[in-house]
Amino acid sequence: MRVLVLNGPNLGRLGRRQPEIYGTTTYDELAAHCVAWGADLGLDVDVRQTNHEGVMVDWLNEAADAATPVVLNAAAWTHYSYAVLDACAQLEAPLVEVHISDPRQRPEEFRHHSVVTPYAVEVIAGQGVEGYRMALEVLASR
Ligand code: DQA
Repeated sequence: MRVLVLNGPNLGRLGRRQPEIYGTTTYDELAAHCVAWGADLGLDVDVRQTNHEGVMVDWLNEAADAATPVVLNAAAWTHYSYAVLDACAQLEAPLVEVHISDPRQRPEEFRHHSVVTPYAVEVIAGQGVEGYRMALEVLASR
C-alpha cells in the first residue's frame, strides 16, 4: 500500500527550528525514518514537505484522485487554511493528522483549533517524531 506523508510550512527546518518544542531530529532524518517504518509495516511511503499552500493542495488532490492514504502534518495551515480543509474533505482513503508538539496544550489560542481533525480517522499529537510511526501503524492496521 502506498502512503503519502505530507508536511506543511517550516517543517523543512526540523532539528534547527525551536528544538525545545520540536526536538532535534532533522527533516531528512524524519523522512528516512518514515520510509523505514513504512517498509517494516509493508507500506511504500512517499514523504514530502512544502512551504507553499497551493502545492499542498495539489498533493492532497493527487491523494484524492488515487485514493491514497495520507499522514498529514499541515503545520500552521492546520489552524486556518480552508483550502487545506476543502482538500482534506475530498480524500477517499484514511487520513491521519499528526503534530510533533501538542497544539492544544500550547499557550497560543490559535493552535487550539484544527480544520483537519473533522476529516481525520485519528489525531496523534505531542509524541514527537514517533507520532509519524504511530500514524503509519494506524494506516497499516486499517
Ligand atoms: C505543528 C504544530 C503547529 O501548531 C505549528 O504551526 C507547526 C507544527 C506540530 O507538528 O507540532 O508548524 O503542526
